[in-house]
Amino acid sequence: MAERPYIVGNWKMHGTRAMLSEARAIDRAAERLMKVEVAIAPPFTLIHATRKEAALIGVGAQDCHAAEGGAHTGDISAAMLKDAGAGFVIIGHSERRADHDEKDSDVRAKAEAALAVGLSVIVCVGETEAERDAGKAVRVVAKQLDGSLPQADSAAEKVTVAYEPVWAIGTGRTPTLDDIEAMHRAIRERLHEIYGDAAESVRILYGGSVKPDNAAEILNIAEVGGALVGGASLTAESFVGIMTAAA
Ligand code: G3H
Repeated sequence: MAERPYIVGNWKMHGTRAMLSEARAIDRAAERLMKVEVAIAPPFTLIHATRKEAALIGVGAQDCHAAEGGAHTGDISAAMLKDAGAGFVIIGHSERRADHDEKDSDVRAKAEAALAVGLSVIVCVGETEAERDAGKAVRVVAKQLDGSLPQADSAAEKVTVAYEPVWAIGTGRTPTLDDIEAMHRAIRERLHEIYGDAAESVRILYGGSVKPDNAAEILNIAEVGGALVGGASLTAESFVGIMTAAA
């Protein structure tokens, strides 16, 4: 188990103000689980309110635009996220890569824009099922890391990597514990090639069907520094179950 596991809830496109009660309950639980670092990334519309209602946990966003501002209807800049109370932003989630055709170069540009305004970033990588079946998972993830991560060595302290096999997201399926460990070790090695010694400060989260009943065994794997949680972060009951397993 990492010294202080980082448990992040990604609410995706879920949540109206009624869901702030879940954020409040998660925040209350965080007060007694101080050994765990907890954060949630609600939709843009709830960032400000979540920040106000939940004082202890981190609050972040699920995407940002790479530009500082301009004629980009419907988009949100990193500075706007910061102004709304976000402390971090998830970049390059596989749903954005697939639904919005985001390439590694887009992910890097967004991550650099976020770092430039003082946000931390969680950069997501992960292989599809076909890529894993073809024995290409490590190569695919290494290429994503090479192309997506902000390049300056000084970036490392503000960067977290989330390894999320695409086929494990929302499916109830997870890789074997050995496969998770092997991938996290491969990611750590690649981070050393990219950031040198600074790579040690980068946390590597696992994401994909993490639930209260499998969280402890996943979080016990060497090099797993926490979890990025989708479905099971939508109620305080299940998310606190994961936080408790991490403590
Ligand atoms: O960002 C979170 C991941 O996509 C995992 O989602 O926990 O619903 O599988 P999930």
